[in-house]
Amino acid sequence: MAVGGGISAGNGKQYEGRVTPFVIVACLVAATGGLIFGYDIGISGGVTSMDEFLQKFFPTVYEKQKNATGHESQYCKFENHMLTLFTSSLYLAALVASFFASATTRKFGRKISMTVGGMIFLVGSVLNGAAMNVAMLIIGRILLGVGIGYANQSVPVYLSEMAPPKLRGALNIGFQMATTIGIFAANLVNYGTAQMKANGWRVSLALAALPALIMTIGALFLPDTPNSLIERGKKDQAKEMLQKIRGTPNVHDEFSDLVDASAVSQQVRHPWRTILEPKYRPQLVITCLIPLFQQLTGINVIMFYAPVLFKTLGFADDASLMSAVVTGLVNVFATAVSIVVVDRFGRRVLFLEGGIQMLACQIGVGVLIASVFGVSGNGTFSKGMGNLALALICVYVAAFAWSWGPLGWLVPSEIHPMEIRSAGQSINVSVNMFFTFVIGQLFLSMLCHMKFGLFFFFGGWVLLMTVFVYFFVPETKNMPIEEMNRVWKAHWFWGKYIPDDAVGLSHKSSDHDA
Ligand code: BGC
Repeated sequence: MAVGGGISAGNGKQYEGRVTPFVIVACLVAATGGLIFGYDIGISGGVTSMDEFLQKFFPTVYEKQKNATGHESQYCKFENHMLTLFTSSLYLAALVASFFASATTRKFGRKISMTVGGMIFLVGSVLNGAAMNVAMLIIGRILLGVGIGYANQSVPVYLSEMAPPKLRGALNIGFQMATTIGIFAANLVNYGTAQMKANGWRVSLALAALPALIMTIGALFLPDTPNSLIERGKKDQAKEMLQKIRGTPNVHDEFSDLVDASAVSQQVRHPWRTILEPKYRPQLVITCLIPLFQQLTGINVIMFYAPVLFKTLGFADDASLMSAVVTGLVNVFATAVSIVVVDRFGRRVLFLEGGIQMLACQIGVGVLIASVFGVSGNGTFSKGMGNLALALICVYVAAFAWSWGPLGWLVPSEIHPMEIRSAGQSINVSVNMFFTFVIGQLFLSMLCHMKFGLFFFFGGWVLLMTVFVYFFVPETKNMPIEEMNRVWKAHWFWGKYIPDDAVGLSHKSSDHDA
């Protein structure tokens, strides 16, 4: 058995049922939660490269850029902490909110969290569109962050619980797909509003209300997951729901497993303390490391700052925004690839291939920038060199989009037993948001100080995470979510943490259907 291989999917239980249109529609609606997340990621980079926006809120950055003599380092053109705080404050708020979301999601259900998230986000987008000063701008961003904390905490769990095991990967990636569509939409909007004579940035920021409306209204109509209904003592409703989403009255086995899992979960009063117990060590470690690594791929350097980065590389304003549109499109298409293959080839193949591809591109971009700008930061990219850099960045984005992008959300949402699922997902969201914040906040300074070395820095992390996946992340494809302990138990390293009785759980003969 390969080191991280886990057990083969064939060992997992097969439940009855088919993929019903009902479950697909529910998952599509829920996945729109990703739209608000993506729109935000994509919008701020473009807005912060618009002159009118800079003049109004960050006049010093504007002056610095405008008066650049051409002798200064290209690497430092945009360094300004208030400017980066605009981008990254959102992620700090999301971090804090995800902890509140955990309790809401557990006590009131996944859909309430989604509705709450959508509404708060809506208020934030109105504030941002109407912003008169930096304070309004940042408060708006914080509200957007709270909305995202709620959505990112609840949507991936919702999707993983609704989906039949065989399609869990594909349906869960609907969230990431919506995220990339949100980013791409934002790139397009920025490209359009940058042509406006005035207030283009306002339109860009206010349009965030659109995905928020879609998500809030969508969430109101969503059914709750059977897992969550059982968790809240509504067994009959849960069974009906399960029959509906699986398209068969014969849901005995799956329902019985859900009830068993929930019984264990009910005994847990303090999920936060519980998740620290040794038997949950594999989940805890993976849930902390996956989002950390996802951010250390360096993806958000491209997502947040692509227009700024391309400007630094000497592209004109228009060309910079256009390049962001190109990377945005690559992101969407490559995510679609992962939807098709994730349940067939599994998570590990994608992680490993994506890692190698990203590393190769990062080395390529680093070498290219070093050869043009060197250490001094003086120089200009020729058209050919610029296009080569853009091509390498696209290949890198594609690799991320079929590996760490979707898997960074999928894997943590499917590895936790019910009793620690909400807590585990909050850790995932908060670690992700924290490092999104760190990178958002530090990137422009890092570029200024580490220069082309920044690309090698992220490359080093990608190497490390690829080795980590090889040894420590087991394959989870096709394994029913409430049976996941079998995967850990069979793992060469994590197996020793899982007590024997944790694996026999689902084979009790008690009849919970009555
Ligand atoms: C990540 C984001 C990133 C996006 C890019 C998501 O999975 O969490 O930080 O910007 O992918 O598509």
